[in-house]
Amino acid sequence: MDSLKQANQLLTAFSKIVNTDKAKPYKKEQGYKVGVDLGTSSIVLVVLNQQDSPIFGAFEYADVIQDGLVVNYQKSVEIVQRLKEKAEIALGFSLKMASGAIPPGTVGNNKRVVANVIESAGMEADNLIDEPTAAALVLNIHKGGVIDVGGGTTGISIFEEGMPVLVSDEPTGGTHMTLVLAGYYKISIEEAELRKRESKKEQENFAIVKPVVQRMAAITANILAKHSIDPLYVVGGAAHFSEFEKEFGRYLKQPVYKPVYPQFVTPIGIAMSSQLSKE
Ligand SMILES: Nc1ncnc2c1ncn2[C@@H]1O[C@H](COP(=O)(O)OP(=O)(O)OP(=O)(O)O)[C@@H](O)[C@H]1O
Ligand SMILES: [Mg+2]
Repeated sequence: MDSLKQANQLLTAFSKIVNTDKAKPYKKEQGYKVGVDLGTSSIVLVVLNQQDSPIFGAFEYADVIQDGLVVNYQKSVEIVQRLKEKAEIALGFSLKMASGAIPPGTVGNNKRVVANVIESAGMEADNLIDEPTAAALVLNIHKGGVIDVGGGTTGISIFEEGMPVLVSDEPTGGTHMTLVLAGYYKISIEEAELRKRESKKEQENFAIVKPVVQRMAAITANILAKHSIDPLYVVGGAAHFSEFEKEFGRYLKQPVYKPVYPQFVTPIGIAMSSQLSKE
């Protein structure tokens, strides 16, 4: 699949620069794009050049969002400010404008809060895109489904002719996997979170969290019963387990594709959706 290959190249390039505090050489006259992803478990800032190649990336783990809502406004603003400053030092110019994203179905004030965080951090709020549409931009999906398994939720979006025709967001995410591990090993949530990410323990961990993965697949099956679609892609940090898409595919009885570094798909898509800013 060419579009997956392209997405993987982009994600690999991003993974090489993220949190290095270094920027890629950049031609001033061409313009740049900025995306800010306020997630349940991390806040990510992405800067792309005119060709949508990453020139800067940084993130911080954070617990300022719950169920897609900003629960700690001040802290969110401080983190975005810090990420912006790092970008400006590395790039050598100040960021004027950034796009943000909202979970599908967010309306009114909650939508405004994301724009307010960006503005309080000293940038103009550009486009507010919904998260799955951002992911679809990176994966270049015209027709297909995106399953975004983040910290708090499993979001499913179905696209036909490049437009989302069915979206849902259910409260089962990576946090639930952590809780299952904490319960199984009788350890704290913090310890379980660390253990979950240890690559050496991956097989053992996956066997324990498998019921959570099956629950996520069941949520997806309910949506597919309303509107079947192929191909299906899984993104989001909780999809990191190497067996994740295979288990999903087995449950759904259709192939499920996963790009590399699935946690960076939505943040990069947010930046892609932004207008080009000039210095
Ligand atoms: N190596 C890993 N193995 C397993 N899970 C991981 C790994 N790395 C991150 N995760 C999990 O991924 C989840 C975060 O994913 P992601 O960064 O996509 O979420 P988010 O965008 O912050 O949250 P949301 O989209 O729900 O608001 C967390 O639950 C985290 O524990
Ligand atoms: Mg997310």
